[in-house]
Amino acid sequence: MLAWEHGYKIGQWEMDAEHLILFSLLNQLDININADLADECIYDVLAALDAYIDYHFAHEEALMKAWDYPHLESHSALHHQFMNEIARLRELVKGGDTVRGALKVRGFVLEWLLNHIMETDVDYARFIAEKSKKSSA
Ligand SMILES: [Fe+2]
Ligand SMILES: [Fe+2]
Repeated sequence: MLAWEHGYKIGQWEMDAEHLILFSLLNQLDININADLADECIYDVLAALDAYIDYHFAHEEALMKAWDYPHLESHSALHHQFMNEIARLRELVKGGDTVRGALKVRGFVLEWLLNHIMETDVDYARFIAEKSKKSSA
C-alpha cells in the first residue's frame, strides 16, 4: 500500500487532491492484483486510472492556461507522452500475463507520477502562487 505523504503536496489544493486520488487508484490496483480476481477486475481499475489521468491532465492544463503559465506547451507534451506510453502498456496487459502487466503499469505510473509532481507540477504551482501574490499586493 502506498501512503500519501505531506511532502508530495504542491500547494494547489485541487491538484493536490487529484494527485491523492491517483495514488488511491494505484492502491486499488494493488488490491485487485493481490485479490486474485478475474482479469476483468484489473482491466476495470486500469480503465479508471486511464480516465482519471486524462481528466487530471485536462484540468491541470486548463489551470495553467488560465494563469498564462509560460511552460504550458512543454508540460502538456510530457502529459501526452505519458498517455501514449500508458495506452501502449495497457495493450500489452491485455495481450499477455495480466498480473505481470498490471504490476508493470503500477510501477511505471508510480515512478512517473512522483517525478512529475515533484519536478514538473511543482513549477506551475510556484508560478501561480507568485502571480497571485503579486496581483493581491
Ligand atoms: Fe502535470
Ligand atoms: Fe499533476
